[in-house]
Amino acid sequence: MDRDELIKIAESNVLPHYAIVSEIREKEPKIIVKGKGAKIYDIDDKEYIDGLSILWTVNIGHGRQDIIDALKEQLEKINYASLFGGYFNEPAIKLADKLAKITPSNLKTSFFISGGSEAVESAIKFVRQYWAIKGFPEKKKIISRRESYHGVTYGALSATGLRTYRQPFEPLLPFFLHVSPPYCYRCDFNKTKETCNVECAKQIKDLIFYEGAKTIAAIIMEPVMSAAGALVPPKKYFETVQEIARENKIIIIADEVINAWGRCGDLFASTIFGLDPDIMVFGKGITSGYAPLGAMIVKEDLFEAFTDVMFVHGHTFGGHCLSTTAALKNIELIESEKLYLRAKEKGEKLGKLLKELTKHKRVGDVRGIGFHWAIEYVKDKETKERIPSNIKFAMKVEEAAFKRGLYLCRASVDKTYIAPPLVIEDEDIEKIVEILDESIDEVSRSVEI
Ligand SMILES: Cc1ncc(COP(=O)(O)O)c(C=O)c1O
Repeated sequence: MDRDELIKIAESNVLPHYAIVSEIREKEPKIIVKGKGAKIYDIDDKEYIDGLSILWTVNIGHGRQDIIDALKEQLEKINYASLFGGYFNEPAIKLADKLAKITPSNLKTSFFISGGSEAVESAIKFVRQYWAIKGFPEKKKIISRRESYHGVTYGALSATGLRTYRQPFEPLLPFFLHVSPPYCYRCDFNKTKETCNVECAKQIKDLIFYEGAKTIAAIIMEPVMSAAGALVPPKKYFETVQEIARENKIIIIADEVINAWGRCGDLFASTIFGLDPDIMVFGKGITSGYAPLGAMIVKEDLFEAFTDVMFVHGHTFGGHCLSTTAALKNIELIESEKLYLRAKEKGEKLGKLLKELTKHKRVGDVRGIGFHWAIEYVKDKETKERIPSNIKFAMKVEEAAFKRGLYLCRASVDKTYIAPPLVIEDEDIEKIVEILDESIDEVSRSVEI
């Protein structure tokens, strides 16, 4: 199939994820065909810096031979063996062992699925069934934060707190409650860094009191809220949330789908913020995208409740041999190359350079941690008035950056996310910021708001 044929088919026969077909046709679909390290190449062999690890996923970088070899070796043995009905496969067992050893606290037993939404979905179903087994069937409600993204399947979407994603599919599931996010740039309580008393965390206590603790099953949170634009919470936030959850016998689910596997400067972001979750969910970087995998790991006491009762849940491809093999090798590489430390050290440099972009009149805020950053654009810096969504400012920046050799993906209307592979070199970090500088300048000049 030649280039033009591929483009024609992409325009008409592939329904894109989160993109408008007419807009794609206007500019031509962008087809990525290969990658190496922190670089990717399109169908015309043009090189780009991968500024988002494709989708916060390719943590160890593209084209790693160790993973390719491990996958080949596994394929020579068996391609697929499920985890249904008491049967297991070898790499899934080894991965479960690895996760039990490296996750914090006494997180112990893993459930494997194919991606982040399925992991969140599994956690929601798990906590509801857990409380029913324990004799508290009325403990069903799930608390999450506004502006959060936890995935797209009905349970995960019901936990998601972004209106645009929710609205077309309403009514969503009942018994999902949303509280204020720790969005310091736009504090719901009009507090500043100096006056903040983690009111957003304390709001959870009021909500629990109003709803009744005996009706709340769990709270699900990303340590660093990604879709909202790399929201790093205030120091006392998780300490307070954790205290409230423990007092009220509420299970804490940490959504580490983006945050984990070195992205924030440690293997798990929960560790950075002193969060001790009862359940952690993973996706994306658990395999660095070499195969699709999601995972949920639960603490020992939660698992014990299911000794004589079946968890009524399963997916055909959950724990696929290739995915678990990819995860094992991926984790081995992250550990042996200490890529989390690289994200921590080099992420500081990236952040420092990105913060210089606040010189632009439309850049309201730059925030993040490790290799997990975001730029938020505003109409007015003084009032923080949002840029109208129909302007699609961030998408225009993405286009301008792509022309200049930086891949960012059009993930939001008013935020640019920057999350490169953890193996990125210094000169490419500098180049990312240079390209962003020029691209923001170009869009600021050309777009009237
Ligand atoms: C925090 C978080 N949770 C869950 C998901 C859903 O993962 P997936 O797209 O693999 O279903 C995402 C996806 O971006 C995410 O960012």
